[in-house]
Amino acid sequence: MRYLTFALTKGRLADKTLAALEDIGLGCKEMEDKESRKLIFVNEEMKLKFFLAKGPDVPTYVEYGAADIGVTGKDIIMEENRNIFEVLDLGFGKCRMCVCGPESAKDKLQHHEMIRVATKYPRIAKDYFHNKKHQTIDMIKLNGSIELAPIVGLSDVIVDIVETGTTLRENGLTVLEEICPLSARMVVNQVSMRMESERIKNIINELKERL
Ligand code: PRP
Repeated sequence: MRYLTFALTKGRLADKTLAALEDIGLGCKEMEDKESRKLIFVNEEMKLKFFLAKGPDVPTYVEYGAADIGVTGKDIIMEENRNIFEVLDLGFGKCRMCVCGPESAKDKLQHHEMIRVATKYPRIAKDYFHNKKHQTIDMIKLNGSIELAPIVGLSDVIVDIVETGTTLRENGLTVLEEICPLSARMVVNQVSMRMESERIKNIINELKERL
């Protein structure tokens, strides 16, 4: 039996994914040592390997077959737009992709004025404004703390993830439009899905039963 390799998203998502895998008997003891500087972890008995990566790199590892299976957010899967199969909604890491800004930006959105949009997700923002709303926008790509942009006058609105809404509230911003719901998804390499279909389908089914 060859190893099946998992690419997990560093942080909270990896912890929840490992807990889910543990529940179906596919845990990884080696990964519980948080002090470890190892990059690859092995479950020898089940012939599994695990590594942690930055979210946006997970679809890349899976597309090229460096990992058979990946777990990351739907936001990242949409933004990266890789040739991979999305096979399961894991039901955790729930949040929403939204257009946010000050109340005063509502008019600009409704009247289809030319607006400046700051985001870490240019593909998602472009698809939403161009293809769904048929609105022309000026896009500004940022890499984090997106809520700053409308506060300091860099943009009219932002396209960003809203989980609890606390960041918006504490900065005088609000959700203006909802783009789509998000959660953690399992993705699979297209060749692995054929070559290891039985093992991978079993994992998907057991995780489904746990939901
Ligand atoms: C995300 C997102 C928002 C915040 C939303 O940022 O970009 O800023 O979480 O969460 P809330 O609705 O519960 O307040 P993240 O912490 O990932 O960091 P970033 O600013 O670097 O993107």
